[in-house]
Amino acid sequence: MATRSIAGGVPEPDELFGREHVINYIWEQLAGNNIFLVAPRRFGKTGVMGHLLKRPRGGHLPVYLEVEELHDSERFGAALIAALLEQSTLRTMVTRAKGLPGALMDFISNRIQHIKTEVVEIELRDLVKDSWESVTRALILEMEKADETVLFIIDEFPQFIENVARKHGDETARAFLQWFRSLRMRQKDVLRRYRFVLGGSTSIDMILRRLDVPDKLNDFFRVPIEALTPEAAEDLLASLSSGYNLRFSNEARKALFDLISPSVPYFLQWFVSQLRMEENLKGKELRVEDVTDVYQRRVLGPTCRAYFDYYRSASSGMGNRGNGRLWRSCRRSPTPRRAGYRTASSMTSTARRERKMLRASSLTRSWRTWKRIGMCFSTPEPTSTGFC
Ligand SMILES: Nc1ncnc2c1ncn2[C@@H]1O[C@H](COP(=O)(O)OP(=O)(O)O)[C@@H](O)[C@H]1O
Ligand SMILES: [Mg+2]
Repeated sequence: MATRSIAGGVPEPDELFGREHVINYIWEQLAGNNIFLVAPRRFGKTGVMGHLLKRPRGGHLPVYLEVEELHDSERFGAALIAALLEQSTLRTMVTRAKGLPGALMDFISNRIQHIKTEVVEIELRDLVKDSWESVTRALILEMEKADETVLFIIDEFPQFIENVARKHGDETARAFLQWFRSLRMRQKDVLRRYRFVLGGSTSIDMILRRLDVPDKLNDFFRVPIEALTPEAAEDLLASLSSGYNLRFSNEARKALFDLISPSVPYFLQWFVSQLRMEENLKGKELRVEDVTDVYQRRVLGPTCRAYFDYYRSASSGMGNRGNGRLWRSCRRSPTPRRAGYRTASSMTSTARRERKMLRASSLTRSWRTWKRIGMCFSTPEPTSTGFC
């Protein structure tokens, strides 16, 4: 079946390749754990979360919120309540909760269905204000009474903690983490009935260490989202290609996989989108030189450097080690103007030159580094090398 090219968009469950195993594993683990999905940006966390949200299993009722743009604890509380209230069954339960402010109950019972979702969050924020901690806690505890296990899926959680620390100081971020932990635990280390799945691309361990609360999320079971297996990557490439009439010689397909190894699905999506940008490649069988040419001119070009900016930034949590290497790879990489690369149609490539290009591929090495970064993100304790 052909798959649409969605480099950067959120894949629908049917558009996810190679994630069956990890999704099954997450559902299994949810029986006794809260889950933290860890991986660098673009490795596919949101895609997996979307699957959990849209294809819930085993008596779970998922509620999704994205917190990358939130900078305040009370906004987190309001966003979480708003997400709960979007579910009509939960809304009815919430109206039965006891001991909540009258104005809030009135809002939930009478007004919520007549206003837009984004306005709900703003109004809730004003209603809960300073009592956000107790109100949000009371509403979430009410979810224990639901027939199904409520599953809170919270994307970009580490970024939110970072935002709070930056805007309100470390003490506020610590207080939030303490509140959040008390929400998950009935007594010490006994899980409550509802579950959380968090996702985040920044180094959460680095943030927690900096805040001096390394154990505040240690009840979460970490699941890394890794590169695709070679088989899944082949399937994704075949599916992307068939939709756009892209054909590869065997050597060209192998060259493509060598260049992007390890097969992070975003890179495959992106490489194919770059190949499609070339009008003269339409409908013809691509050769090794076509693939390496597009790689050199487009993948290693300025767009790539903009993309790698993230890994340079402080918010990536990568410091100056891992991302410095990534950045240097891209900065050194040739662009059409600087290195005088020519288009596929005018390039007189030889097998020797191709081999050299493949060997010299600094980005390939970078992507290997990314894989290491991905592994590091899944390391629960600080590593002795301090790489992450
Ligand atoms: N399993 C997958 N199969 C196909 N494409 C995927 C898959 N996972 C991610 N992608 C591609 O990668 C991009 C980034 O994925 P996303 O889930 O947003 O990553 P993250 O949340 O880790 O930053 C998506 O826009 C999509 O193009
Ligand atoms: Mg994401």
